[in-house]
Amino acid sequence: MIVSATSALVLNWTLKGLYKSNQAQDYFDHLNLSAADPLFQKFDDEENFMQTQLVSNRKFFVRKCAVEFLEKCNRENVPGQAIILAAGLDPLTIELCSLYPECIVFDIDKYPRREKEEYVKKVCRNVNFIDCDITMIELLKDRLLENGWNSHQPSMLIMEGISYYITESDLRNVFSTFAAVGSALVNDFGLLPGCVDEINRRHGKKVYQLIKEAIGMESLHLYEPDYYISLVRQCGFANAGRFKMGEIQLERTGERSPFNGEEPGWVSMITN
Ligand SMILES: C[S@@+](CC[C@H](N)C(=O)[O-])C[C@H]1O[C@@H](n2cnc3c(N)ncnc32)[C@H](O)[C@@H]1O
Repeated sequence: MIVSATSALVLNWTLKGLYKSNQAQDYFDHLNLSAADPLFQKFDDEENFMQTQLVSNRKFFVRKCAVEFLEKCNRENVPGQAIILAAGLDPLTIELCSLYPECIVFDIDKYPRREKEEYVKKVCRNVNFIDCDITMIELLKDRLLENGWNSHQPSMLIMEGISYYITESDLRNVFSTFAAVGSALVNDFGLLPGCVDEINRRHGKKVYQLIKEAIGMESLHLYEPDYYISLVRQCGFANAGRFKMGEIQLERTGERSPFNGEEPGWVSMITN
């Protein structure tokens, strides 16, 4: 399994109703998520339920932050730019392009995703696909600029499902580069199992263990929450704050359950 199949795995746990445009819903219906089947089959019903709640919260939160950012750009009459790093098969690209035709979306991943590119480009014109390893930071900046990124205009950096797979030093480089040009940020990170309330700890442990084995990484990059927030702030996102699964579940569904308690989630969200 290559890392890009992790993108299919999370989409198995994404509720389609999170996306509001017909274009994103149709795209979702056409997705072939079979690359993740061998891994997906290792989760039972209860685990699938818990992962679906968590991943849907993550995607709900990322979408909400991106939409608020692009709405603000619209109100201020400036062209908003969304830079989605390690986008994989994520429907967010087509969702944002369809809802905000005046914005521009950069969809970036290490692996080419030609089917996604062809599909999205048939429906939307305001999109650029870039194949780039985001740890090659100078190349990433050059490729963005070549493809029309204006670093003087407002941008939102969207980094979902990637902090697990790159080193802390590479993560810091990416954050610092975009914080330096005043980007907004939405991001998630995985919590070290010992930081998660015992009641839900096993769900995080299981998913991280199975992904690690499937992609052949010695260990995923997981963090202690206070450490991660300091890291993000040190890189220049001085106002970044953390959102836990309980509050996002409450906002998305009207109830905190199954994320009750102080530290119920094995993923937290960050925005500035
Ligand atoms: C778990 S998926 C997340 C996809 C999407 N952001 C989401 O949350 O649905 C991880 C993605 O990171 C991409 N990726 C991993 N390492 C990368 C790197 N160094 N540069 C760019 N993309 C990378 C993989 O190809 C894969 O598509």
